[in-house]
Amino acid sequence: MATAVRALWWRGGALHLVDQRALPGRIRILRLRRVQPVAAAIRSLAVRGAPALGVAGAYGMVLAAAEGGYTPARAARFLAATRPTARDLFVGIERVRAAWAAGADPLAAAEAYRAEVVAECRAIGVAGAGLLARAPRVLTHCNAGALATVEWGTALAPIRAAREAGTPVFVWVDETRPLLQGGRLTAWELAREGIPHAVIADNAAGHFLQRGEVDCVLVGADRIARNGDVANKIGTYEKAVLARAHRRPFYVAAPWSTFDPDRSDGSGIVIEERDGAELRRLGGRRLVPDASAVRNPAFDVTPARLVTAFVTPDGVVPPGRIAGALRRHRRRAGPTPI
Ligand code: MRU
Repeated sequence: MATAVRALWWRGGALHLVDQRALPGRIRILRLRRVQPVAAAIRSLAVRGAPALGVAGAYGMVLAAAEGGYTPARAARFLAATRPTARDLFVGIERVRAAWAAGADPLAAAEAYRAEVVAECRAIGVAGAGLLARAPRVLTHCNAGALATVEWGTALAPIRAAREAGTPVFVWVDETRPLLQGGRLTAWELAREGIPHAVIADNAAGHFLQRGEVDCVLVGADRIARNGDVANKIGTYEKAVLARAHRRPFYVAAPWSTFDPDRSDGSGIVIEERDGAELRRLGGRRLVPDASAVRNPAFDVTPARLVTAFVTPDGVVPPGRIAGALRRHRRRAGPTPI
């Protein structure tokens, strides 16, 4: 079984991407046959979301290998320079770099990586569905759906699985300024599948929590440190603070590729700062006086103490046990763990 939405696929020697910049207005497919346009698609958020970035990076390496003129290391450096925060991007690139450098088939390595990511997201859905049976009115931030992960999603996977199991889920969708991944992408996925939801302005979440209309908050992640600190889309931290203030659980769903075993806590996670133009204009209209400075961090870090539990492919894990669960996963996964 597959989800109704798939973010990217490989066919006829080309990486095919749903251009997420055009949604929800238009379904535009990009066919990429060279590594340079893959890097441009990552930078411009035509493809986005941590696990999908990893798979796009993996196929980008396949294109670099076919193109010639790149060594595995040079292609990896080129693709890794696109966006700094999501760990999955580096994992996907490294998977194919290692295979290519060892003389193995880069495409087979990328296909295997894609299949693992999809399987992990499916498992996250199964693991998290039970949480929503007790808390069916879910607030989510950004897009952690199939568009962000190839299929299923991370935060949206338990929502899909709970609905399949008959739970009457309802999703509060933060619009997620400045690029509106919630209003444009999460709402698009939910609408296609007829999952009940409402888009709200980012600053309306506290209002609905205060009125008792939100049972839990469930988000994805871009990088998770060993102690459970979570980097995710800007605004996630304040949702976690709100959830704690209203005694509602705050769950983070992620595949193992998002967990960073080399980072003891979130303090050193590189936060991407994007072009201020994303804040200054909307739909061609000027929103901010030219004389005003703007800051546009794309992510923030939520401390582990605000996380109730992680929804992983291996089950629901509290922050205090996440380092051990990651160690066990890496022992099981062997020399090329996700
Ligand atoms: O800047 P984006 O759109 O790539 O940011 C995406 C997010 O922050 C997602 O929440 C995260 O990558 C998890 S996706 C399963």
